[in-house]
Amino acid sequence: CGIVGIVGSEPVAGRLVEALKRLEYRGYDSAGVATIRDGRLDRRRAEGKLVNLETRLAEEPLAGTIGIAHTRWATHGAPTEGNAHPHFTDGVAVVHNGIIENFSEIKDELIGGGAEFVTQTDTEVVAQLLARLRRQGHGRREAMLSMLQRVAGAYALAVMFEDDPSTIMVARNGPPLAIGHGKGEMFLGSDAIALAPFTSEITYLVDGDWAVVGKNGVHIFDLDGNPVDRPRQVSNAAAYMVDKGNHRHFMEKEIHEQSEVVSHTLSHYIDFIANKVKEPAEGIDFASVPSLAVSACGTAYLAGLVGKYWFERLARLPVEIDVASEFRYRELPLNPKSAALFISQSGETADTLASLRYCRDAGLQIGAIVNAPESTIAREADVVFPTLAGPEIGVASTKAFTCQLAVLASLAIQAGRARGMIDEAQETALVRSLAETPRLMANVLNTIQPSIEHLARELSKCRDVLYLGRGTSYPLALEGALKLKEISYIHAEGYAAGELKHGPIALIDENLPVIVIAPFDRFFEKTVSNMQEVAARGGRIIFITDERGAAATRLETMATIVLPCVDEIIAPLLFALPIQLIAYHTAVFMGTDVDQPRNLAKSVTVE
Ligand code: G6P
Repeated sequence: CGIVGIVGSEPVAGRLVEALKRLEYRGYDSAGVATIRDGRLDRRRAEGKLVNLETRLAEEPLAGTIGIAHTRWATHGAPTEGNAHPHFTDGVAVVHNGIIENFSEIKDELIGGGAEFVTQTDTEVVAQLLARLRRQGHGRREAMLSMLQRVAGAYALAVMFEDDPSTIMVARNGPPLAIGHGKGEMFLGSDAIALAPFTSEITYLVDGDWAVVGKNGVHIFDLDGNPVDRPRQVSNAAAYMVDKGNHRHFMEKEIHEQSEVVSHTLSHYIDFIANKVKEPAEGIDFASVPSLAVSACGTAYLAGLVGKYWFERLARLPVEIDVASEFRYRELPLNPKSAALFISQSGETADTLASLRYCRDAGLQIGAIVNAPESTIAREADVVFPTLAGPEIGVASTKAFTCQLAVLASLAIQAGRARGMIDEAQETALVRSLAETPRLMANVLNTIQPSIEHLARELSKCRDVLYLGRGTSYPLALEGALKLKEISYIHAEGYAAGELKHGPIALIDENLPVIVIAPFDRFFEKTVSNMQEVAARGGRIIFITDERGAAATRLETMATIVLPCVDEIIAPLLFALPIQLIAYHTAVFMGTDVDQPRNLAKSVTVE
């Protein structure tokens, strides 16, 4: 979910909705805005995308110079208008991002005291609890503090009291919250990008902070009610204002930007004149760590899985990797001499952040590969390895993924050098290959599009699709399947090609397309054998290979997509492109909402 608020002197509803648009990546199943006018709270809410809320506001405008607003990704309660935020109870208005974990216990107690709940959300307990505390005679601040001491879980909250049209109270525990300083106006939002058109002067709340925001400033407190000081900083989020250019979708634009942003990212880590990996001012001490723990979610996790192959092969560094939602609870025994690496586009994913804290508490050195430099994960890591992908708007990650791969490849080479597993000549050869990557990516993007559009038309008629690969092509098979299901809603699975015979082979018939990702590498012959097993059972093969692979194979396929031959290390960066384009064009044929697929959100700040 995304939240915003303005305490100003001009009407706020229009600006609140503008700010919500920049937070729509956090969820878009319903939205709402509330203001106080003439001493009364009022609100407009609507199911579905923000445009519906805009229509509501056009029909029934909302005056008022103070307001809060919300765009929702449903956790508790269906995405109906009734469950949309802001929630109102007896002169209290609340917007919330996160999950109140002890809500049922508090709800039962409030119901016992006569409260009537009107939504299925966990958030309503916050409004009901505040209303009860006020009825019991507590002042506003006092009520806020005692509510915060009572609720458990993750939250970014903004609260307005009808009897105070001059302040918004906010609190943070988990999901991010930025306070923006204006001239005679103050702002709050889930990130600095939402506030970029209003101000670049930002104060980030830290976990356990709550604050009273008035027109002329903010007072921040801890959970004991003591005032705390948080720095005011200049955010460069304004540089991130983006549009689609000539593309139909952000995802298409972002796919086509990849050669450029991978080039920027590589230049940060590689000295292309000396053909060496740059010596970082601060970094992970790869020479001495016994192992590396890696954790992330979704596509970022799959980038990490490719990285595992590189670190183990090039640097002989064992990597323990898991999705963050498992990693954080596995009670994995950790060696404090090890390092841990977290990968996240947004830098706010709740599970990834919790895994980071788990490793930090165990004493490991913490590195983070993030695309959002001002994010919580970036701020909590010892060492930040930025991806310079620029803002990624499409919910399905594309350019952030290849930039994560570019960073991981650079770090694996650096680790290989530090551990004496790669000599200078090998480093030069690997770096030369990386230097070629942006040019090759641009060539691939320019040439494979027509054959993919044709193929996508066929795939859009299918119910299921299977992806196979070995080595680093295995995580790519997983990523191909993830991309396709996310945006086209076609069921897809990725499998290690060698596992085919242990299960998925039972699915193969003439209706199941099997996408085989196989550059002409050490595994090529093995993967081709698995492909033969598919062909022998009448399966339809889509073969993604390189020029040597295509020349070496005589097999009838539904389509063969041929990429240039490249060094093994950069193959995943190139082979990511056809799998992204397949998902994109299939979704376009299906007519789905490519940039904002149903039920998903780009940044997930709840468990
Ligand atoms: C969500 C997004 C995915 C993303 C994942 C991890 O599920 O839809 O595209 O890969 O979160 O996000 P992060 O910001 O941590 O990379």
